[in-house]
Amino acid sequence: MKFLLIIACSVLFLAGAMAQNTSLKPVPEWMKTAYFYQIYPQSFKDTNGDGIGDLNGIIEKLDYIKWLGCNALWLNPCFESAFMDAGYDVIDYYKVAPRYGTNDDLKRLFKEAHKRGMRVCLDLVAGHTSDQHPWFKESQKKEKNEFTDRYIWTSDSTVKPEKYVSGTFGRNGAYRKNFFDCQPALNYGFAQPDPDHPWEQPVTAEGPRKTRAELMRIMDYWLSMGADGFRVDMAPSLIKNDPDKVETNKLWAEVRSHMQKKFPESVLIAEWGHPGRAVQAGFMMDFMIHLGPDAFSSMFFNEEGTYPRDSCYFRLDGKGTPTDFVSAYMNNLRDVDGKGYICVPTANHDFQRLACGSRNTPEQLKVALTFLMTLQSIPLVYYGDEIGLRFISGLPDKEGSLIKGKYNRAGTRTPMQWNTTKGAGFSDGDPASFYLPVDSSTFRPNVEAEMGDPSSVLNFTRKLIELRKQTDALGTNGKIEFLYAQKCAYPLVYKRTNGKETYVIVLNPSAQRYQVELNYPAVLRAVPVWVNQVAISPENGKLRIDANGVSYGIFKLLE
Ligand code: NOJ
Ligand code: CA
Repeated sequence: MKFLLIIACSVLFLAGAMAQNTSLKPVPEWMKTAYFYQIYPQSFKDTNGDGIGDLNGIIEKLDYIKWLGCNALWLNPCFESAFMDAGYDVIDYYKVAPRYGTNDDLKRLFKEAHKRGMRVCLDLVAGHTSDQHPWFKESQKKEKNEFTDRYIWTSDSTVKPEKYVSGTFGRNGAYRKNFFDCQPALNYGFAQPDPDHPWEQPVTAEGPRKTRAELMRIMDYWLSMGADGFRVDMAPSLIKNDPDKVETNKLWAEVRSHMQKKFPESVLIAEWGHPGRAVQAGFMMDFMIHLGPDAFSSMFFNEEGTYPRDSCYFRLDGKGTPTDFVSAYMNNLRDVDGKGYICVPTANHDFQRLACGSRNTPEQLKVALTFLMTLQSIPLVYYGDEIGLRFISGLPDKEGSLIKGKYNRAGTRTPMQWNTTKGAGFSDGDPASFYLPVDSSTFRPNVEAEMGDPSSVLNFTRKLIELRKQTDALGTNGKIEFLYAQKCAYPLVYKRTNGKETYVIVLNPSAQRYQVELNYPAVLRAVPVWVNQVAISPENGKLRIDANGVSYGIFKLLE
């Protein structure tokens, strides 16, 4: 009886959680053909010689990004900050950090992007502020005020559960942090407040409600100025103790409804690391990255980088396996179920780039890029990956790049290399010169040289994006089916089809030659579309595939 009751309750409960999405306005059409380009503003392009990239630099390079084929930007946080976590510690959500420019510059960026048919998404650090934020300073005071309950404080400074930080404050209590100690969590409430923790407020309490209202005010502010959407930092973690994410889902459904009421074309993107779940919560896109199941990392993380690993699929030694990625990818695709998108980026500011460790030649990068640009998800180029910019090990900590003294993100945040004259045009002795790469190899990626070289990684990426744009079956419309994705086996083979046209993609990132035979009836010809060192011959209901070491191929099947 008890068992049945539990089942009945769970069904009702899940139905409640799932029902959130039915009333949501549709995902804007433009997402279907979005090609994202992520910009880490401090390292992109400096225009005033202070050594730090700026908004004018981004405006200057819009034509370049458009030439590459990208039509949507995601900017890492560019707001007033203490820069103890590279801008993820906001001091004023309504003001651009002076080192990047002014609010008017950002407005101009929106306008210039829109003129070129491009969109601009900002980073919304929704879960925490800097400990220097005026709200947090008010919240520390003994006297009750507007901000007393905007953060999560225990009722006594000696009461300090895990993730709580004590200090010398006017009020008696320890505060809940989100990431670094300098990032106090904003109070969105607890889904299941613990009766033994009297400071844990329900999501309906006044403090959490005001926090939520403020979040929407911030969004409205930038959307009215011309922003096209947000990537939400640490999206699943705003509401505490929410194991089934019921309250979290309600929160995002409310935020999305609010956002789309006035700005139906705006987009909400999660940093969740689990697209199936993020889309169920109301997000329109989420990333498969280093967070969540071991999928992205099993493909790309090799012996070097922020998070090194013993083996991965895109490595010359051929000891990786594609199976974890493939099953996570297919599960996510099933779960997003047309209600949103997966994004598998080339990298981001939190983990190593594609060019890392022993994956360091243009030919190896081309195999990886062919994979990333032919999936049934939305592509994202992390600035610099289009030229093969390297991850650099051993750089000093820079504005919180080092996590727990161990995981170094500085090597993935180095300046964009526009030409060879001098790094990224950053001046000497400035803070950003820490980012100058020390590259002893002959392959020195930079935009200027690569633009003039038809076989460069840059032109490869550009032409591949162009091919995807012109080939409906290779875009988000086409379905994906993995034809050969065996445990610890190479090559990787999959099919993309929109019902009218069918393509087969073959990727062999290993150094060894492989031949496989797959059952595939009724193919007359496999026409090479984008091929290097791979052959397919259809014969008697089979596809014979012959893939040399470090090879890729996109073939059109004629049936
Ligand atoms: C995720 C961001 O991507 C990362 O850079 C940041 O340090 C943490 N969230 C904390 O905001
Ligand atoms: Ca500058």
